Amino acid sequence: MGKDVIVACDFAGKKEVFDFLDKFTDVKPFVKIGMELFYAEGPEIVREIKARGHKIFLDLKLHDIPNTVKKAMSVLSRLDVDMTNLHAGGTVAMMEAAIEGLTKEDGTRPILIAVTQLTSTSQERMEADLLIEKPLDEVVMHYASNAKAAGLDGVVCSPLEAGKVHERCGSGFVTVTPGVRFADGDIGDQVRVTTPAKAKEIGSDYIVVGRPITAAADPVAAYKRCVSEFCD
Ligand code: C5P
Repeated sequence: MGKDVIVACDFAGKKEVFDFLDKFTDVKPFVKIGMELFYAEGPEIVREIKARGHKIFLDLKLHDIPNTVKKAMSVLSRLDVDMTNLHAGGTVAMMEAAIEGLTKEDGTRPILIAVTQLTSTSQERMEADLLIEKPLDEVVMHYASNAKAAGLDGVVCSPLEAGKVHERCGSGFVTVTPGVRFADGDIGDQVRVTTPAKAKEIGSDYIVVGRPITAAADPVAAYKRCVSEFCD
């Protein structure tokens, strides 16, 4: 699996995202389109960014009954993105249905990864709100195993968990890891962070980087710094 830096384009609308992407002239970063931008602009924003030559991770985190997810994935499949995702909490049956929906007639499909437990969910909230009374890291690894059993390609996880996920699910099981910050940068609201170089050392396959690039004085230089620390 080729390592890459995915830029989280967490912008409110089309103008903001294109003002940002226009700064990149000699490189075309892999970009993540999340719910905010997708719900604001609709599927057309995906087609437009793709037409500019970017690879796309469509981060919509589907979670519904298997039949609904299958049909939704089949619609998303027409957008021809490179990566998309769902919640492993929807069960193995839902994940299998998602793969069926996502797979095109020629047998190809985007990389499909699962969100395990959101990093915003604490041990306390998981026990009190979800009645899951197991250690959080055990739950994360169990959900990763379920994703693998369903035939998914990998999971979103903390870079600090990437090594463990590879041990449990194999080195070919993709780890996509947010929570990346430069050693000399602001942490912001992220709690468990690591640098691009450290993420590489632990074995992340893709790092997702938002504000350290989007809010930098020179976003292109910040992107290139991530690439050289993580990929080279
Ligand atoms: O700006 P920052 O680098 O913190 O952006 C990280 C991106 O990764 C955001 O789009 C955020 O929603 C996403 N993400 C995350 N933690 C997760 C899952 C997704 O930060 N566990």
